[in-house]
Amino acid sequence: MNLGVCYYPEHWSQSRWAVDAKLMRETGLSIARMAEFAWSKLEPRPGEFDFAWLDRAIEIFANERQSIVLGTPTAAPPVWLSRTHPETLPVDAQGRVKNVGARRHYCPNSPVYRALTARIVGAMAQHYGADERVIGWQIDNEFGADNTTRCYCPNCATAFRVWLEQKYGSIDALNDAWGNVFWSQTYADWSEIGAPNLPGAHPPNPSHALDYFRFASDSFRAYQHLQIDALRAVIADRQFITHNFMGLFPDLDAYSLARPLSFVSWDSYPTGHTERGAALVAQSDDGTYSYDVGNPYLVNLEHAVVRGSKDGAPFWVMEQQAGQVNWGTYNPAPRPGVLSLWLWQNFFAGVETTVFFRERATWFAHEQYHSGLLNHDGSLAQGYLDLQSFAEQRAIMQSLRDSRVENNVALLISYEDLWALGLQPHHQDFDYWTLVFAWYAALLRAGVPCDVVSKDADLSRFKLVIAPTLHLADDALAAHLRRFVQAGGLLVLGIRSGFKTPSNKVTGEPLPGPLRSLVGAAVTSWQSLPPGVTMPVALMWRGWQRVHAARWLETLDVESDTAGSIAAYVAQTTSTPQLQGRAAMTVNQVGAGRVFYCGWMPDRAQTDLLVGMLLPEAQVEPVGIVPQGVLTGRRVRAGNTIWGLMNFTDEEKRVWLNASGWRDLETGAPLDKEQKIPPRAVRVFESP
Ligand code: GAL
Ligand code: ZN
Repeated sequence: MNLGVCYYPEHWSQSRWAVDAKLMRETGLSIARMAEFAWSKLEPRPGEFDFAWLDRAIEIFANERQSIVLGTPTAAPPVWLSRTHPETLPVDAQGRVKNVGARRHYCPNSPVYRALTARIVGAMAQHYGADERVIGWQIDNEFGADNTTRCYCPNCATAFRVWLEQKYGSIDALNDAWGNVFWSQTYADWSEIGAPNLPGAHPPNPSHALDYFRFASDSFRAYQHLQIDALRAVIADRQFITHNFMGLFPDLDAYSLARPLSFVSWDSYPTGHTERGAALVAQSDDGTYSYDVGNPYLVNLEHAVVRGSKDGAPFWVMEQQAGQVNWGTYNPAPRPGVLSLWLWQNFFAGVETTVFFRERATWFAHEQYHSGLLNHDGSLAQGYLDLQSFAEQRAIMQSLRDSRVENNVALLISYEDLWALGLQPHHQDFDYWTLVFAWYAALLRAGVPCDVVSKDADLSRFKLVIAPTLHLADDALAAHLRRFVQAGGLLVLGIRSGFKTPSNKVTGEPLPGPLRSLVGAAVTSWQSLPPGVTMPVALMWRGWQRVHAARWLETLDVESDTAGSIAAYVAQTTSTPQLQGRAAMTVNQVGAGRVFYCGWMPDRAQTDLLVGMLLPEAQVEPVGIVPQGVLTGRRVRAGNTIWGLMNFTDEEKRVWLNASGWRDLETGAPLDKEQKIPPRAVRVFESP
């Protein structure tokens, strides 16, 4: 794996650059990312460019064998720009114009901002586009970060109307798609339509809002494309173009933004994200959450979501946490040595290059409390010490370079489903990622690493595909899934699937709408339950189990000869006789494959149970029996599988491997089935 660090030459005196560059080389780093917030240094006055300082920095770092990744600086518009063109400032959902003073204060639909973007990006491309020391570009920085995806300014209103006109063609079609006859919302002309913020009472019409979310995401896709075009016109294919996404960030369709990029990158902050994701984890995971190492299951899901945006291709971590962050509720220092675990986790997730954030802790402004590989005073921080002790393990990792991630199980996700369900959760604790995480973590606990792909992705390489929910569905999606199942795939559909049309109206067909014939059963009732209310379910599949369904319940009626019920509700009080005996889970034979429908929202123990039931059916073999807190990674090369077992806990853990004939990578010795993995350590095996 290549390693690098984010370096901000503009934050340090020039005399220091050479010292820092030398230290990077000595520690085995080979990439420096620069300039992604340096617009005011690169264009101090409108149209006046100054590249001399960056030229010098590049020269010094290249002399220490560092390759340079340049950020386009558009996440940080200079003050002169915002002051001369206040119409470039974004407006929040409350109608307030945002101010200068931090970053990301721009509207992607502002014609002026787009023109000035093309100018600075074009100038940088002219200057560095043929420079061999510059290997590639990162566009902007974390699109949408800090609640900046959805802008409600007049520029956006205009662009939204154009977007709608292109999508619907006629105002009648739009009125119909949004159901505007409801509460007299019918529009007579495009000019009457605005953003869905600040409606009189109630949240906005969910169809209107969903289109606005799509439009906002599309606006950044188009804005990114403007930059790609400006770069490609000059650099051709000499340098790569990427963007640094944010794991489970919900507001942007990262899958659509990823398409035109050379590869994707993301910014991984395990302790920070775990804290933010703690609610999500709490509902579906137990105590592996560790305050100073992060929740490894959650980080793995983030990796998988990012990897899925480019169909499994290798990707980068453009910012890797190496010490404490400054933006958490609490900001613990990562445990010494943890960096190696994170790097192995990155490797087994398919990461090709890891760039640490940041080289030295800053003395000033917003991120003073953030760590660097160097402390504020320039002494080595824990990150650098960890890297020094990682050197030996790195050699082993390098010897596995020719392998790649390959999984035969996938979860299906969709940002549109996420948005639609977020607009109408119908249960105050209903959360899309929580549902996805429950299934994902259960697979990983079972020793099965898996992919996460978009619901229209090519599924042919998978044996088992789980769709925690496919909320918005149409005939094309149903046909796509049918092809997978007919060819022998095993598909699991979760709650609320097929409930809505793509324009976010409920289907007029029996549920699950277009997916009904695939399921071979109809969903006949659905409800969300208050906390504390559960409903017993008798699960009958190669044995008998009783579980307690909570949060969300659906009942099914089997409709096809090829389908059957495999779980039924057992009414526990006289107040719920209507549920007695109704199917809670069904299975349907379709061609050479099968479709399961799970009608309740499974919790942690239930996803474990269901995954345990499904894996043998799909003939997916886990690595073995892995205890909680030990993560499984899998890569393949030349017909062999490389397994990685990463112990994120503080205790020695025992793993029982499934297959024989495996050998230790370092010694070549045959392996015992029982393996002990020391605390916070990694074992790597190769199996035929
Ligand atoms: C990232 C961002 C960086 C820096 C970092 C601090 O989200 O891209 O510029 O702010 O967080 O953790
Ligand atoms: Zn705007």
